[in-house]
This record gives sequence, structure tokens and C-alpha cells, in this order.
Amino acid sequence: MVREKIMDISLRRGFVWPSFEIYGGVRGFYDYGPLGALLKKNIEEVIRRHYIIEEGCFEVSSPTLTPEDPWVASGHVKSFSDVIVECEKCGEPYRADHLVAEHTGIQTDGMNISDLKEKIRDAGIVCPKCHGPLGDPYDYNLMFKTYIGPGKRKITAYLRPETAQTTYLLFKRLYAAGRERLPLGVLQIGHSFRNEISPRQGMLRLREFTQAEVQFFVDPNNKNSDRFDEVADLQIRVWSGEMQARSSEPKEMSLREAVESGITKTQFIAYSLGRAWSLFERMGIKGSRLQMRQHKDDERAFYSSDTWDIEYISQDFGRIELVGVSDRTDYDLRSHMELSKVDMRVNKEGRKFIPHVVEVAYGIDRPFYCTLESSYVEQTGEKSRTYFKFPRDVAPYRAAVFPLVNKDGIYEKARTVYETLKNLGFYVQWDSSGSIGRRYARADEVGIPFCVTIDYDTLRDSTVTVRDRDTMKQERVHIKQLASRLS
Ligand code: GAP
Repeated sequence: MVREKIMDISLRRGFVWPSFEIYGGVRGFYDYGPLGALLKKNIEEVIRRHYIIEEGCFEVSSPTLTPEDPWVASGHVKSFSDVIVECEKCGEPYRADHLVAEHTGIQTDGMNISDLKEKIRDAGIVCPKCHGPLGDPYDYNLMFKTYIGPGKRKITAYLRPETAQTTYLLFKRLYAAGRERLPLGVLQIGHSFRNEISPRQGMLRLREFTQAEVQFFVDPNNKNSDRFDEVADLQIRVWSGEMQARSSEPKEMSLREAVESGITKTQFIAYSLGRAWSLFERMGIKGSRLQMRQHKDDERAFYSSDTWDIEYISQDFGRIELVGVSDRTDYDLRSHMELSKVDMRVNKEGRKFIPHVVEVAYGIDRPFYCTLESSYVEQTGEKSRTYFKFPRDVAPYRAAVFPLVNKDGIYEKARTVYETLKNLGFYVQWDSSGSIGRRYARADEVGIPFCVTIDYDTLRDSTVTVRDRDTMKQERVHIKQLASRLS
């Protein structure tokens, strides 16, 4: 299984590690090690380039610990829950819909507590761990609850389960800062928390994770995009709600076709999906493994008029939702307006209205894993090796610098090259131990795109050897041209 090979490299070399390991660990938490932290940072930077630089979005950053009111308004206090069922013998908790789906193969989207109770009874499902009987299913709120402040003055609070709501609370200020333009896009990258019932899929279902959610505030009378033509011809595997209802396979089509045939309800949604698609390719996730799947009517949140996920088809995990794109209508701003009594309407060309929100909600941890899986290459034959074919801007390090030998002034020269590259802002790794072959193998294993070797010729003519990770070809480059070659 690729997953095991990736996890082996990951643990050994420092991409991700299970959290709190020396105390036995807790499911649903991962630490990013030295390489993982850099890879994650680079994935976030690709997102920033895509939305802040190219789309002109704003970025905000809000507290993760929030008072209760926003979550009352958004509906999370009342209904951000999953149905849980516990073993009466060993106490193991399960997500009831997942348990039923795994045992019966039926689709459980949209099932309520009594449907799930009935299915568990009819299928005779018992605890998969100890075969004990299961108790009655019940609703379980996924938010972590806590308090802000001491004693009688303390107020109820929650760790945010999504970044979105914290962005909506800023709408009035953002609208003014953006000189009252619509559409107005706002990105927020930060941690979110969900007390998931039984996170069993490694880093795909976490209790603390990073989201990068973009909220586009749009005019409800204009859900087109000026830039739709940029993505219109992208050929994408599309799985509409209607196709799923008649059990038909996803179909490849252009986004233009998806809009013109009414499969996506608005052009803005199609545009957002196209942009998300190209973003994943930029991260190194294979487009051939992606599909866009529409939420069926019984699955979609009641306030949403159209919701799509982009899913990655993983070799070991099957379908993984990487991003949700949703037309949330005016639900969120209206709800905050009603509870806070702050007017969220805008005044445009004689019309007073609450903007609608089209949300593009990325997680970071799942794309992180899929980047690893998509980039992992096992090369067989004479030159067998394994490497990560990360795109250059995503790779944790841009280059590794090696002195051919640690004597005759070569070590010192290599240190100078290494320091110069660092001063120019490159993330570079130093490796001076073992044979050059072993150093190449170590650099390949963690996906470093270039290896720079300083040798005797360097002392004579100021050139270095640059070896390309993917082709393994080597070329001589003058030290003065090295930075532009690595760029
Ligand atoms: N604001 C909308 C929202 O939060 P979501 O589909 O629940 O929508 C968006 O989450 C993205 O966040 C998902 O597509 C996924 O990538 C990521 N995500 C959600 N729950 C997660 C979890 N428990 N662990 C890791 N990533 C998660």
C-alpha cells in the first residue's frame, strides 16, 4: 500500500508525526515535522498566490476561540452534530452513518436518528471491536466547548469548527476597506476544531486541522464571473446530483458545458470549481485523480442553493473531499444581522440588499496528504529509487548543497554557496556526510528538486554541478547563474 510507504518516509524523515506520542497519543491529532511544516507552508503560499495575488482577495486572521453568539446565529450550537452510537460492552464510539454504510453498503446521506437505528437493528450490526451490543444512536455536537474568563463572569465559548463564520463577522469592515466592491473575496487560513467521533483515517479526519476558506461576497443579481473564460475549457470529471441519483458514473465535460446545460447552477460556482481544480494541480495533485461531485438534495445544507466538492480518488482511501464550493445565499449574513442587530445590508445603485456568499472551503491537511500520494514515484530498473515529484514551489527545500569532499577548501566554498542561497531567500539543505550517491538518494526521498555539488572544478572556474531530481541529469552552472537556475 502506498499509504504505508508514505507514512514510513513521513515518520522517518519528518513530514508528519502522531501528536502526544510519548504519552501514548490521542487520535485525530498530528504534528508537522521539519519537512512537513515547510511543505504545508508552501501549500498555503500557493493558495495565497492563487487568491490574494491573482484574484485580488483580502486575507484576514481571526481568533480560534470564540464566544457563543456567532455559533447560535450560524446554527452550529443547534445542529452541528453527527449521530453517534456506542458499544454497551466496551464503550467504543462510532459514527452511526459510517458504521451502517460500511456494513450494508447503502448510502446513508440524509438519514436521521430513527433511520439509522432501524438500519442497525435490521442489519444486526454489533460492535466491530468486541462484538458487544450497540446502544441507541443519539445526536452529538462536534464543537469543543469551553469558557472565557473566570468565575461568575465567565462566558460560554467554542473553538471554531470552521473559519467561515469568523470572516462573516468582519463583513461590514471588509466591505468598507474594499471600497464597497462586489464581488469581494476574503481568504482566511487558520486552525479549526471538531470533536470528531472516531477519527480513524490518519490525517484525513482530524480533531484540529487547518482550513483555507475563501468567502466571495456577491450581488445576488449577478452570479457570473468576469474571468469565467479562463477556466471554461477545462475538461473535468463531473458527477452531478442527478447522475448519482440514477447511479450513473461521473462524466468528463468542460466547465462551459456544465454551465450551459445547467448542471452547475451559476457561472460563479463553475468558475470557483475550475480555479480550485487548477490550484490542486499547482500543488502537485494529479488532475486525473480529481472529480467534482455535486451534493444531492438530501445531503445539501438547507440554506445552500448549490454545493459541490472536489474529491481526490486516493489509491488507498478512495474518495477524499478536498474542498467544498457552496452558494450559501444570504443565510449567514442574515442570521448574524438578526442576532447581532447590526445591519449587514449594502446600498448599491439604489438597491439595499444582503450580499450572497459563495464559499470555497479548503482543508490543508487532506490536500497535504494527497500531494504526498500524487507526487510519490517508485522508479524501477537499473536506477531504482523512490522520490516525491513535488512542484518546485511546493517542495520543502528548493535545493540541497553538497561539498564533494570535506577538505582542500571545498567544504568552505560549499558553505559559502549554501549561505549565499539562504541569504537570497531559498530554503536549502546542507548535507556533507556519506557518498554523493547516498546524498542524492536522501534528497530525492524527500522531494528536493535540485542538488548542487561543489567540487574541485568549482575552485578553478566557479561552476557547480546542478542535478535535476526528475531527470537525474547534471549540468554545470556558474555560481552567478545558480539563483536564477533554481528559480
Ligand atoms: N465552512 C465550510 C466547511 O467547513 P467542510 O466541508 O466541513 O465545510 C471544508 O470543510 C474542508 O475542510 C473539507 O473539504 C476538508 O478538506 C476540511 N476538513 C473538514 N473536516 C476535517 C477534518 N475533520 N479533518 C481534516 N480536514 C477537514
